Amino acid sequence: MMSMFCLRSRVIAMNKELNNNNLMAVCKRRGFIWPSFEIYGGVAGMFDYGPLGSNMRNNIVEVWRDIYKRREGFIEIDSETVNPREVFKASGHVDEFADLVAYCTKCGSAFRADHLVKEFFDNPDVLSPEELDAAFVKYGVKCPECDGRLGPTEEFNLMFKTTIGPGSARVGYLRPETAQGIFVNYPNLYRYNREKLPLGVMQTGRGYRNEIAPRQGMIRMREFNMMEVELFVDPDDKDWGRFREIKNNSITLVPNTGSAAMTMTVGDAVGKGIIANRVLAYFVYTTQQLLVRLGIDPERLRFRQHLCDEMAHYAADCWDAEVLLSFGWVEITGIADRGCWDLSRHAEFSGTELTHFRKFDEPREMEIDKIKAKHRNLGPKFKDKAKIIAEAMETKHPSDVKNGILVLNIDGEDTAVTGEFFEIVRVREKVSGERVIPHVIEPSHGLDRIFYSVLEHAFDYDKDKDYAVLRLAPEVAPIKVGIFPLMEKDRLDTMALEIYAAVHSSHTEAYYDGSGTIGKRYARMDEIGTPWCITVDYESLEGPQKGTVTIRDRDTSAQKRIPADSVSETIRSLLSGVSFNDL
Ligand code: GLY
Repeated sequence: MMSMFCLRSRVIAMNKELNNNNLMAVCKRRGFIWPSFEIYGGVAGMFDYGPLGSNMRNNIVEVWRDIYKRREGFIEIDSETVNPREVFKASGHVDEFADLVAYCTKCGSAFRADHLVKEFFDNPDVLSPEELDAAFVKYGVKCPECDGRLGPTEEFNLMFKTTIGPGSARVGYLRPETAQGIFVNYPNLYRYNREKLPLGVMQTGRGYRNEIAPRQGMIRMREFNMMEVELFVDPDDKDWGRFREIKNNSITLVPNTGSAAMTMTVGDAVGKGIIANRVLAYFVYTTQQLLVRLGIDPERLRFRQHLCDEMAHYAADCWDAEVLLSFGWVEITGIADRGCWDLSRHAEFSGTELTHFRKFDEPREMEIDKIKAKHRNLGPKFKDKAKIIAEAMETKHPSDVKNGILVLNIDGEDTAVTGEFFEIVRVREKVSGERVIPHVIEPSHGLDRIFYSVLEHAFDYDKDKDYAVLRLAPEVAPIKVGIFPLMEKDRLDTMALEIYAAVHSSHTEAYYDGSGTIGKRYARMDEIGTPWCITVDYESLEGPQKGTVTIRDRDTSAQKRIPADSVSETIRSLLSGVSFNDL
């Protein structure tokens, strides 16, 4: 049965449809976002970022970097987007990363099977192919295109497949998440981090999913942008030093126990066992900080825990940041506890040890497995080298044995020895530490979804002025300041262009506009979210106000005069958080 919650989402969706259409029209007309390949009719689920969109997306990435790189000290990498099949076989994506598709038996159209029955179930994406086929019959669901019979429902792997090099010898896939590039680099990253945990690694870049029927504009794109963070932690230490700084702050949670959304402190969420551990809770809250800073309305933000049968194949727990948009609640970030899934699988499939050496405070007596040389067999075969080989063997760990063979570096040369020359024995001895497989906490942000959601939450129709205003956070706004001469003559334009040249930089995008009435120019800047405008008028040139210009605030339309030679500094201080009233 459809829940009240679904009904409410529908009503909100209908009420806001107009709003959404207007927003997309503004985005397209002003150069935020364009449907890709439009001159060839377009391709569903594909969009290009225009000049303003590219600026704004870069600004979002910079805020994410500010939090994770500057504040948390995480490191950033950039890995390949085409990966060999082995990577995704190990990660589980080859076998598990599928949606269910229903084809029409009459016209052949393909549909996401769960979407066809969403009005009859609260959570249709957990239904099996058989259950979906039964639902089509029970509820009389037919092909939306031609009314033909649907089914049978089958799995469709969402990865784009390719070959690496000519022929089909080496199968590859476009990555469906950036995360795997971090996991397969674990040995390099761990070494870079001087073999210490926690180890926080971030990556932004493209992911690719061959969605069956992408709808809802930028919410479901086939080629999309992600900002992912993989935090490797000791499995027995899921604490986070800074937790105490945020534990009294509030967060709205929808746990998977069936209870309604509840607002509570992060500390209570952990104390009551609603969020499993402090590190996961800290990064759920960090996600809230990021999204609110970007301009997401906190009243339209909640964190919903995945149901057990909804979780991705790699996740032990997952909280989605959901925002209320014109088409209902939409996931824009997932914060998952991936446990040891990825590193264990890559260790198993690649034969590489992917562990952390956990040092004890004091050496402990423990039972451990060790490699012991079979001196009796080594001597006759390796003669005068037997001793040095035995010593090299005993520095190795049983996990270094691959397919029964141990490779040793003797005098700069690799020497492979078989099990005939060593054995693995369990001994009791004092050890300084042990090897553990790190666990991974992953805040994974859908950059395009965040971009779109920020625009929707910023979109406003100013009834008094009768035009759209994007109330974007200044650090996100694609243009920071519009610079106008009142008239493009009488040296007003020269002065405005001088100010523009002094202000405009890759950090402070400025826009010079000399055409149309000043009201139209303000409207053009308001519509793209520019927080401030500078106007050079006749008073700037002579009289008591000589050498000053006006600065106007987008949200209040308030104006002040400031010295023309302080424009750069004023914009910088406004961007750093100084209030317009305090200028
Ligand atoms: N890495 C998380 C995801 O693919 O959604």
